[in-house]
Amino acid sequence: MSAGDRDWDGVRLHVVTGKGGTGKTTLAASLALALASGGKKVLLVEVEGRQGIAQLFDCPPLPYEERRVAVAPRGGDVHALAVDPEAALLDYLEMFYGMRRAGQALTRFGVVDFATTIAPGARDVLLTGKATEAVRRRVRRDRADRAARRPEQARAPFVYDAVVLDAPPTGRIAQFLNVNAEVAGLAKVGPIRNHADRVMEVIRSPETVVHFVAMLEEMPAQECLDGMAEVRGVGLNIGGILVNMVRSPLLPPDHLATAGEGEVDIDALARGLKSAGLEQAEQTAQALSGEIVDHARRVRAEADVRDRLAGAGRPRYELPLITDGMDLAGLYRLADELREQGAA
Ligand SMILES: Nc1ncnc2c1ncn2[C@@H]1O[C@H](COP(=O)(O)OP(=O)(O)O)[C@@H](O)[C@H]1O
Ligand SMILES: [Mg+2]
Repeated sequence: MSAGDRDWDGVRLHVVTGKGGTGKTTLAASLALALASGGKKVLLVEVEGRQGIAQLFDCPPLPYEERRVAVAPRGGDVHALAVDPEAALLDYLEMFYGMRRAGQALTRFGVVDFATTIAPGARDVLLTGKATEAVRRRVRRDRADRAARRPEQARAPFVYDAVVLDAPPTGRIAQFLNVNAEVAGLAKVGPIRNHADRVMEVIRSPETVVHFVAMLEEMPAQECLDGMAEVRGVGLNIGGILVNMVRSPLLPPDHLATAGEGEVDIDALARGLKSAGLEQAEQTAQALSGEIVDHARRVRAEADVRDRLAGAGRPRYELPLITDGMDLAGLYRLADELREQGAA
């Protein structure tokens, strides 16, 4: 796919949400690989504290710092960060109040609990704040380097070409990203307010989109559509729909159509089985015909769900069900699919 054919050129923060268990972490990682390929640098951020990224990339649990976890196809690096809200709070206290030490004391006195559990809005700001800080971060230049550049080169390049956020599930996503509303009751002025405003500026900008993972099943699809409406409702940009774990039909369309009506030519099936050398071809054909009908009906139900997802009018990508175990090779395969379909 050539440059310009990619659907999300110009987007620098990709938020990935969806119903739990549909493959958010897997597809966020694959998207990071896809975006990094060809020599880019991408940060994959995990906020649910499950170390899912480390597991996926086969590396030891991530410390609270950015580190390279994979090399992308045709060069490029994927770095990863597992954000821990408590550590993010300490960072934050240091950044705004120069009080890391105080922060450590606060931890002992349980005040960190205030921000991480009692005021969940503050917790979310810490997590989204970490991701948006990485989006804005520029390469540090020393004074001589700055002086040697012409004014139009004055701004240093970004450290990361893109950041992918493995976000909370659909039920929590709008609230999670709507940081402004969350801290409104918490801080009206001062550094927390300013910080929230800066986080929100990145999240609302055209550089940020929210992608939804769905499957060709009723519940995940419905959650995806509801989530999209809710995220749009708080004024954020919807990205694409990543339809995960797609299985290809086992039979040609005309056979599926008749089987979907409950009609299977059992005699023809038995003749086929017999000519393939199977004993008891008739009984096998009988049993098999039931499975064929079930399969055809499932394919039809999936087509209905696909139509409903298409109705949302967003770019869709279909990612295959990896049947031989999800591992690094599977991740790279999904990344290839995303690239071929224009997602990166
Ligand atoms: N395309 C796929 N093919 C096969 N297995 C998948 C695929 N995508 C995800 N999985 C598996 O499904 C499970 C849930 O995926 P995960 O990414 O952890 O979901 P989530 O982050 O949404 O909870 C994992 O075991 C993962 O390996
Ligand atoms: Mg996950």
